[in-house]
Amino acid sequence: MGNIKKPRGTIDIFPDEMGFFRRIESTARDTAELYGFGEIRTPTFEELALFKRGVGEVTDVVQKEMYTFEDKEGRTFALRPEGTASVVRAIIENGKTSDAMPLKYYYLINCFRYEKPQAGRSREFFQFGTEMFGAKDASADATVISLADMIIRRLGIKNVKLHINSIGCPECRPIYRQALTDYFKSHEGELCDTCKERLNTNPLRILDCKNPECAKIAKDAPNTVDYLCDECKEHFETLKEYLKAQNTEYEVDTRIVRGLDYYTKTVFEFICEGIGAQSTVCGGGRYDGLMEQLGGPSLPGIGFAMGITRLILAMKESDSLPYDMKNPTLYIASMGKEATAKALEIVLSLRNRGIYAECDICARSLKAQMKYADKIGASYTLILGDNELATGKAQLKNMYNSTQKEIDINGIYEALSNEPMML
Ligand code: HAM
Repeated sequence: MGNIKKPRGTIDIFPDEMGFFRRIESTARDTAELYGFGEIRTPTFEELALFKRGVGEVTDVVQKEMYTFEDKEGRTFALRPEGTASVVRAIIENGKTSDAMPLKYYYLINCFRYEKPQAGRSREFFQFGTEMFGAKDASADATVISLADMIIRRLGIKNVKLHINSIGCPECRPIYRQALTDYFKSHEGELCDTCKERLNTNPLRILDCKNPECAKIAKDAPNTVDYLCDECKEHFETLKEYLKAQNTEYEVDTRIVRGLDYYTKTVFEFICEGIGAQSTVCGGGRYDGLMEQLGGPSLPGIGFAMGITRLILAMKESDSLPYDMKNPTLYIASMGKEATAKALEIVLSLRNRGIYAECDICARSLKAQMKYADKIGASYTLILGDNELATGKAQLKNMYNSTQKEIDINGIYEALSNEPMML
């Protein structure tokens, strides 16, 4: 029998790569808090009905990509494919709709979609997302977009562009949808099989089909922005003004329709060149009908989510650095059992006082220990052997300039505290 492997489309993350995750997570948290968002966490699985009703029955996510299972009592659950529907459910269920508006939440979660894995696309993936409720003005859209933009800039990501569009509301979208259906019907024979189906279920999705034939036809399709009702048009024009006022660069891209059903009015994506086909590092938009659709009061909402592995690809493409792994302040090399016991005692007392220290736990030769100390970038080293134990004195070596200093073995903390690299 062969070795057991991880499930297809999942990832193992080691400390090197974790440095990127940590930088993204801390930057995202800090920046979201600058905008007054608080962290929320919801369950990894929810009732399947939540995503069917929230994300939409005819979306690819719900129709093809859900990980569903029955529990021991025959109830059907799904691993979350995204965060928005769960946040809305949590707000309704916990009565948060009577809190002061706007409500502002952010989350760092894993999500699950049964998709074909490729660079930037996996079956378990990680999202940083935000959701804001109770603010219907275009200034809320501009604020949320500016938060996403600031996070991306703070991560040092270059070659990224903000694409915005408006897909209207329940009043104007049916008219646009009809115009789109009429247009694509006249080209039905040239569409791919999936798009032929979409013609009846969700014609807007034909606009972002990657099939070259479909893309060619979509090029001359009617544009959403030409069909907006007065209110949606006004909202979109105001958003553009606000984005200009806050110096957020954007381009209007009428092909941005998004893959989830709950969107109304503003939709946007940050697209990064140079990271392959899965180039959308952030996607979001307004969803003014979702709260009501899930049984809550009528409360407008807007938010976005960023794919963390895609952000990492973009950071690497921009030569941006991960969060620094800490180097140990002190490495104690030891020879013999007694010296190892002393080393363990010292290292623990230093760790108790907040100093990152290491000692040999592999019973290696002195030469191998010193090589290891160098490899992990210890700032200082100390060698403990019979002689040092007998005299109570040892040489503290500064690894950057190779100078040595005799110190008292029982006064290492004090000695380190006075060292230049500790100040
Ligand atoms: P989404 O566009 O489905 O939107 O996903 C948001 C982001 O998650 C994508 O832009 C991408 O970076 C990342 N992503 C999606 N699927 C995968 C995957 N299979 N592998 C790796 N990364 C992936 C949403 O999820 C909405 N809930 C966003 C939102 C929040 N809209 C309003 N509020």
